[in-house]
Amino acid sequence: MKTRILPCLMLIALLSAATNMQAQTKTKSAPALDAKIDAIVKKLTLEEKISMLHANGIFSTAGVERLGISGLMTDDGPLGVREDVKEGWGSANLTTDSATFFPNGSALAATWNPELAYRFGHDMGEEARARKKYIMLAPAFNIARTPLCGRTYEYYSEDPFLNSRLAVQAVKGIQSQNIAACVKHFVVNNQEVERGRVNVNVDERTLREIYLPAFKASIMEGNAWTIMSAYNKLRGVYCSENDYLLNKVLKGEWKFKGIVISDWGGTHSTVAAANNGLDLEMGSGPKYDKYFFATKLLDSVKSGKVSMKVIDEKVHRILWVLYHTAMSVNPPAGKMNTPAHSKTVYDIAAESIVLLKNDKNLLPLNTSSIKSLAVIGDNATHTFHLGGFGAGVKAKYEVTPLAGLQSRLGKTVDIKFAQGYSGMYRQHGANVNAPTKPADSAMVAEAVALAKSTDMAILFIGGNRDYESEGSDRKDLSLPFGEQTLVDAVTAANQNTIVVVVGGAPYDIGKIKENNHTIVWSWYNGSENGNALADMLLGKINPSGRLPFTFPAELKDSPAHALDAYPGENLQVDYKEGILVGYRWFDTKKIEPLYCFGYGLSYTGYKYSGLKTAKKTYNTGENITATVTIKNTGKYAGKETVQLYVSKDGSAVERPEKELKAFKKVLIPAGQTANVTVSIPVKNLAYYDVKTSKWVVEPGKYKLLAGSSSRDIKETETINVN
Ligand code: BGC
Repeated sequence: MKTRILPCLMLIALLSAATNMQAQTKTKSAPALDAKIDAIVKKLTLEEKISMLHANGIFSTAGVERLGISGLMTDDGPLGVREDVKEGWGSANLTTDSATFFPNGSALAATWNPELAYRFGHDMGEEARARKKYIMLAPAFNIARTPLCGRTYEYYSEDPFLNSRLAVQAVKGIQSQNIAACVKHFVVNNQEVERGRVNVNVDERTLREIYLPAFKASIMEGNAWTIMSAYNKLRGVYCSENDYLLNKVLKGEWKFKGIVISDWGGTHSTVAAANNGLDLEMGSGPKYDKYFFATKLLDSVKSGKVSMKVIDEKVHRILWVLYHTAMSVNPPAGKMNTPAHSKTVYDIAAESIVLLKNDKNLLPLNTSSIKSLAVIGDNATHTFHLGGFGAGVKAKYEVTPLAGLQSRLGKTVDIKFAQGYSGMYRQHGANVNAPTKPADSAMVAEAVALAKSTDMAILFIGGNRDYESEGSDRKDLSLPFGEQTLVDAVTAANQNTIVVVVGGAPYDIGKIKENNHTIVWSWYNGSENGNALADMLLGKINPSGRLPFTFPAELKDSPAHALDAYPGENLQVDYKEGILVGYRWFDTKKIEPLYCFGYGLSYTGYKYSGLKTAKKTYNTGENITATVTIKNTGKYAGKETVQLYVSKDGSAVERPEKELKAFKKVLIPAGQTANVTVSIPVKNLAYYDVKTSKWVVEPGKYKLLAGSSSRDIKETETINVN
């Protein structure tokens, strides 16, 4: 459930390329469909048309019964199909709306696996269809500009290329079920502080190279049928009434055929919004006839401020989406909570967990030497499907880490639990605890006594869905709830202490990195959370997750913070770091992060050799193909993510030290070797030239860097571009 205290201000595993293609062709606008829609538009009265352009319920819009036109039913969102709500956002208390809880966005991104993004979308689309929700308000993939953004956990990463590859597949997956994806939030909604009023000043090159690519890819490659405008302003104009963004770029350059939907309560005008590209006004308040796109729009048409052509175009778009979704012919049947959906959740969780440190090779656990185990920390029993202000799911089930460990080890190992700290932060939407509250000494003492009496201690700490939330940013990166005190005390009490940090965004775990030998990073990992974590700790899963964003050693090292460009002053935020977001900044400025973008260990080792390109010289219009050989040097089969970065020396414009241009995740059996080939269209080496408003590929030398993270480059090769 989305816990709102105020009305909103404010397959399967291998679904083939053929299925993807199918989803794509369905969206091609057949002239016949356009003609059919035009004929319907002619039959509608102005009042009926206006009734289709604004909400008539929290998530719904009106249809036109007399012509057999259905309304639109939307629903959140990235974690799965949320429970039904009644007016005012309270639960509708149904018994039929429990759903699969999918891993959060940054978990999906940490898999670096677009196939899993497709399965995530496909399965969520099936659940949406079963629940008759025809527009899923997902995926969400605003760039992680600051690690503090409250929605970092919902979003993907700091890199536009990783974002794009995942977003396209998530969209295709959802839409394979004749359910529209609604990609959000368009655009530069990179902080929650003052999101409803803040004006983002970002230069054109940065907008094009960093903040727009995943939206462009989801529209042009993924064929997303709907998009949500962001709450904030871009260059002085609200995104929901931004002619440049909506009419020129989205509908003009990208030829978007679908609906621009406002974020809930994010419309600020009638005439400007209608003429500048918004199609549908959504919100949370019940006075639906007072909406900007209700009576006021009707009056604006009557007084000639908004033309009938503009209204007809919006209605055409809505009908076009309806014909692809609620009114599509022979749609799939839809399914809820199937074993296949659980398997998708498990697979995403399994590939998302990041092994940060394993200095004593304590992992995978050698269970024959463990008789007793202390499981310590609130996050061992906390659930994450609901919480905070924002989308959540009434999960059919959620396996906690403690339950996961008990189900696997309970018969052979004496497992005892101590809570260690209280993760209680909000209750009924209100803050009840300060995250800075010192550790509870009685809880720490209990945890220490337990750790002393057992062979091993596993600590589960980190954030939770109350602490990381829509509507607010974190104040800093520190671990909340006195967790550091608990870690220090338990580590001193038991030498075999493993720390598992659960969160959706970077935290300051510098002291843990310094003092602890074994560290695992995990996420809000869906219904199968505890099963996947337990299997990873026990070695049934060989960790292959990679960080989708940089963990700074200190907040002030992050670009927006280093330049004092967050959260802005007087409601103005200047993106002073320009294109140097995330690792682009850290690498170019030679700042050592705590953990770098793309980082993650495995239970096995990989040796890279022989990076080669098919040719030495390429023309624009060609694809660079690069092959690198990787040997799995250890005892476990493992999935390695080859990351290919490109660097351009002597450019006419400022360039980041390196940029991710390709990646591929491959399964390599123990002791075996794989040749991994990736392909980069030469056009993707372009920078955006603000003088000509064109993408320019500079001729000359480019360095290709193949590695297992942004800072662990194993092989390099140079090519020429004519
Ligand atoms: C969020 C959207 C969400 C909508 C409906 C807004 O507050 O920004 O992401 O889809 O509410 O719940």
